Amino acid sequence: MKPFTLTNNEQTDADVKLQKEISESGKIPGHIAIIMDGNGRWAQTKGNVRIFGHKAGVESVRDITESCAQLGVKHLTLYAFSTENWNRPAIEVNGLMKILVNSLKNEAERLNRNNIKFVTIGQIERLPEKCQKQISEVTELTKNNDSLQLCLALSYSGRWDITEAVKKLSKRVQAGELNPEEINDQLIGAHLSTAEVPDPDLIIRTSGEFRISNFLLWQLAYSELYITETFWPDFRRDELYEAIKSYQERDRRYGGVKNGYSKSVSSSVFNKIIS
Ligand code: IPE
Ligand code: IPE
Ligand code: MG
Repeated sequence: MKPFTLTNNEQTDADVKLQKEISESGKIPGHIAIIMDGNGRWAQTKGNVRIFGHKAGVESVRDITESCAQLGVKHLTLYAFSTENWNRPAIEVNGLMKILVNSLKNEAERLNRNNIKFVTIGQIERLPEKCQKQISEVTELTKNNDSLQLCLALSYSGRWDITEAVKKLSKRVQAGELNPEEINDQLIGAHLSTAEVPDPDLIIRTSGEFRISNFLLWQLAYSELYITETFWPDFRRDELYEAIKSYQERDRRYGGVKNGYSKSVSSSVFNKIIS
């Protein structure tokens, strides 16, 4: 395993200390997923055009990716472009695709030096050729890295993901390889684009919207939610730490009861209560 080397020149001693405190104060989420929202409004509050916000958002992607790697988070999934985002004006879509190509070009070496593995989920074949080419290059360059896995969700939607899984399973049934009775939630999960990745522990949405917007619909079943008013270009590591601290205080019950909460009672008392 390649050691994780810090190439983030901005990381201060105070930040290293803070990260140590967070790691010692509770569990670090293994998988964080983020709905990076509010770029357009961020730009508008500054009297600028929306695309300015998308460009500024790249800085947040770098800061959050590197701080996650430094903290030992294993998976970071970023919602960068949804299936529905294709319905935006062409000028914005084209601008976003150009920013994507340039960012991948600029960040490739740095990702690699930081031992970060880059992957994508979504309908990559719908993206312009140049984006596809750049994605393949960075994916190939970083494929053996093993600190953080950074996954960009591009032309992605949860419903698309589930639909594709249903198609794959139906084909296996049709081919006689699979009995419909054998289909269970593990098998469905194994046919999603995130098959190799554990479900997110923590999902963050920036810009104060209380919705999932067709992100990882299946995978988010028991993820802890953290919603902040901060627009994505202003979301940096200090707020990521707040989100992780909030996560560390949660009691994840998965439909069960709080630890130590179920007092045992004798069966006669129990029967009295329920009669
Ligand atoms: C998120 O910011 C980025 C993408 C969806 C591509 P928005 O572009 O949605 O910005 P707001 O939410 O309109 O402010
Ligand atoms: C969700 O943001 C998609 C991404 C962040 C890529 P949107 O801005 O598209 O979501 P809505 O329209 O507010 O639900
Ligand atoms: Mg938005």
